[in-house]
Amino acid sequence: MASLTVRQLDDKLKALLRLRAARHGRSMEDEVRVILKAAAAGREALEKFEPPAPPAMAVRRPASPIAADARRVLLIIGGGIAAYKSLDLIRRLQDGGAQVRCILTAAAQHFVTPLAAGALAGERAFTDLFDARSEFDVGHVRLARDTDLVVVAPATADLLAKMAGGHADDLAGAVLLATDKPVLLAPAMNPRMWAAKATQRNLAQLVADGVRVVGPNSGEMAERGEAGLGRMAEPREIAAAAAAMLRAAGPLSGTRVLVTSGPTREPIDPVRFIANRSSGKQGHAIAAAAAAAGADVVLVSGPVDLPHPPGIAVVQVETANEMLAAAERALPADVAVFAAAVADWRVERVGRGKLKKQHGEPRALALVENPDILATIAHLKKGRPRLVIGFAAETDDVVANAKEKLAKKGCDWILANDVSPETGIMGGDSNTIHLITATAVESWPPQSKDDVARQLVERIAAALQDEKR
Ligand SMILES: Cc1cc2nc3c(=O)[nH]c(=O)nc-3n(C[C@H](O)[C@H](O)[C@H](O)COP(=O)(O)O)c2cc1C
Repeated sequence: MASLTVRQLDDKLKALLRLRAARHGRSMEDEVRVILKAAAAGREALEKFEPPAPPAMAVRRPASPIAADARRVLLIIGGGIAAYKSLDLIRRLQDGGAQVRCILTAAAQHFVTPLAAGALAGERAFTDLFDARSEFDVGHVRLARDTDLVVVAPATADLLAKMAGGHADDLAGAVLLATDKPVLLAPAMNPRMWAAKATQRNLAQLVADGVRVVGPNSGEMAERGEAGLGRMAEPREIAAAAAAMLRAAGPLSGTRVLVTSGPTREPIDPVRFIANRSSGKQGHAIAAAAAAAGADVVLVSGPVDLPHPPGIAVVQVETANEMLAAAERALPADVAVFAAAVADWRVERVGRGKLKKQHGEPRALALVENPDILATIAHLKKGRPRLVIGFAAETDDVVANAKEKLAKKGCDWILANDVSPETGIMGGDSNTIHLITATAVESWPPQSKDDVARQLVERIAAALQDEKR
């Protein structure tokens, strides 16, 4: 596949791109990614560089863009023998959903190549402070800023000294001095270098400055015959520490989010039940996206065939009554998203034993209405979440019915979707959403349920931030 760099664009296009990137606080490369993603999703982002004017849209875009999930990692690879493990670290960070960008010090390039790091990261690795090309495209200040976390692995004795002293005579030093993002160090060095007073003094200074440290571990060094404290933490340990720091840096950090997901099952007798076709994919994706954005998430789920999203408290329920009770127990919450497809009715009298055929006579099942979980929580006088969001799965007059539902249920937002069988939304992997608020309707392009979740989380973070202003 042919590749194109920002540098190869013509000057006018580059100027427009720079303007747009600056407006959104992104690097030019990240801006291109956003544009391509929007184009792939069917939006007309390539024709004009201006985002389409939102017609009568009252849901405000955040003043400064908030990433739905903080996942950009700038990995600085220092010149230690453990640098080879940093290539594995790139993969592990990516497995956790991070987008990784690499800087290699001059010494690091004696151990691993920028080509290998760049190939694994999916973006060229940066090496030189005085490279006019990268300074124009990205620049060391952008490298320092366009990330959610800086990881230094291996953090050499020399890099620790440089950071503690505030030196900026190479790209790694300049970026580390210029960044205002959290920094995680994975020191790796010979045990005597680690124990040296200067190293310990530098480390104490860095910890006092707010830098976090993972490792070093004790064990055999890469150098033959050397052992002790100084071995770099394993890539999985560094990735886990990075993931925890990313969550803490997320826009929903410090908030509690309740999500309901999946269908409910209403028993007829001990072996039969009434259910629906909800897969739980959308609700689970929302719970996962909220957790990735740093929220403390409780997921109340009906019976689904999905793995539990990592790092989330999951309460499994069957019936609507159980779901309501679990949702109430999960309060207080800052935000509640009711994505579950709750049965409207349950069987009035559940058979104690298996119901038998009645010699050809059809059996009538008397149904009673289930509690309305969304309306119950939305109408709470005390302990109502600040943002209550419902879903409206409709097959006709999607927007009109959803508007009516918004008013009737007393929630803040409704996400409406057309679940007619031909849309394939029930059980499928994509969704087409209309976000309905008290004052506006906003139609989102068809996109994956994961992207819907991320867009929703971005909106939630912006709304909570607006509330604070
Ligand atoms: C074979 C070899 C292995 C090295 N391993 C380490 C190491 O594990 N940790 C360390 O702090 N320095 C190590 N050094 C020394 C650093 O490479 C040296 O201090 C260099 O200046 C570090 O540059 P940087 O911090 O800009 O990457 C090693 C040097 C050599 C020749």
